[in-house]
Amino acid sequence: MAEGSPYPSFPAPGRRLRLGFVGGGEGALIGQVHANGARLSNRWEIVAGALSSDPERARRSGAAWMLQPDRVYSDYAEMARREAARPDGIDAVVIATPNNLHHPVAAAFMDAGIDIVSDKPLTTNLDDALDLVARQRRSGVVFGVTYAYAAHVMVRQVRAMIRAGLVGDIRQIHVEYFQEWAIGLTDEGEGAPWRLDPTRVGPAFTASDIGTHAMHLASFATGLDVEKVRAMFFVSGAPKKLEDTAFMHLRFAGGVPGTLMVSQAAAGTQCGLRLRVFGTTGGLEWEQENPEFVRYTPLDQPTQVIGRGYGAGMREEAIRFVRMPRGHPEALTDAWANLYIEMAIAIEARRAGRSLPDGLLAYPTVIDGAKGVAFVEAAIRSNAADGAWVDCRLPEAAPVAAE
Ligand SMILES: NC(=O)c1ccc[n+]([C@@H]2O[C@H](COP(=O)([O-])OP(=O)(O)OC[C@H]3O[C@@H](n4cnc5c(N)ncnc54)[C@H](O)[C@@H]3O)[C@@H](O)[C@H]2O)c1
Repeated sequence: MAEGSPYPSFPAPGRRLRLGFVGGGEGALIGQVHANGARLSNRWEIVAGALSSDPERARRSGAAWMLQPDRVYSDYAEMARREAARPDGIDAVVIATPNNLHHPVAAAFMDAGIDIVSDKPLTTNLDDALDLVARQRRSGVVFGVTYAYAAHVMVRQVRAMIRAGLVGDIRQIHVEYFQEWAIGLTDEGEGAPWRLDPTRVGPAFTASDIGTHAMHLASFATGLDVEKVRAMFFVSGAPKKLEDTAFMHLRFAGGVPGTLMVSQAAAGTQCGLRLRVFGTTGGLEWEQENPEFVRYTPLDQPTQVIGRGYGAGMREEAIRFVRMPRGHPEALTDAWANLYIEMAIAIEARRAGRSLPDGLLAYPTVIDGAKGVAFVEAAIRSNAADGAWVDCRLPEAAPVAAE
């Protein structure tokens, strides 16, 4: 927002931070989305990458991203060493590889003092997730996890409205995420995709891939952690060993009940992530495919549809992120840019030795990533026990405060 604006904004950047990538080369899905978000945030320049472990693909991808040839790598460990040794080395690394590599890559860069932007799920098992939590504590680096839906302006609006008491005490939370793209996906025959290979994806498919997004969104918006889960896994699409559908009951902090339904084999759906929260005095609803609006249903009063923009019911915590006036739609790339703004502010402050006002930033951290992994492991155990309740809180040894 322009100078003199009555609306809040973030502190201006002191410099553009230098960003490197591991994964994200030609043909990759999410690396490009990270890159677009970082560019739109105007706080980063992309200067280095191990965009593939195959040297020729890495070279081609590096050239397409216009990286200097001496900053194109195919070995992430070499990249961590060489970038840490350069005076103009990267400030942070993006990890956009298959899941099994998140832990070793994050460990290598954290140990080199480089800040981390990791995709989800944080790791393929809880021991590795807790190891990353411990390394983050030791190294003091900033560790962001890209649950990007939580950076949509209107998710911040939902969160702010709940914090302001506009639904009263929360009594029910329902989250669902339906996709169709894996309906024909199978691990039968040659060359199973990494997402169905437990050595690369981990012990779950859909519960982990989009279940962690749904679980994070529900917790983030409401401020309530999921404490217990009962889960049933199914295969609704083509045959596969891991689940492509999961239905769960949740118990949030304070005993608040909820449900979570996820499927990647729900014909006719694309990215149907929807959150509904019901409190003692009202309800709130947000849908990822219609992300510009929040539906607010105060008890015994007319329903309100709040549109993203300045004023007109928008809360300060959300307005900070508004890029375009109401009526000019923003989209997922803007949400990624929002996350890249928050992570840049945290990293710039850490590197300058500055502290930031409490509550300024709400990007997901390594702790949120670890909670997602604990949730997946609990869901797997519950499914194996025919839907028994399983505790999914982090073990007491793990620090639970946000960094
Ligand atoms: N946050 C989100 O909304 C979101 C969305 C999609 C995927 N993801 C996550 O992002 C990660 C990547 O998913 P994707 O769909 O982009 O996968 P992908 O298969 O499309 O891309 C993976 C990339 O990793 C590269 N790679 C593999 N091994 C490597 C190595 N040793 N060194 C360097 N690069 C290597 C591949 O060359 C490829 O570029 C997964 O963890 C996934 O869960 C997150």
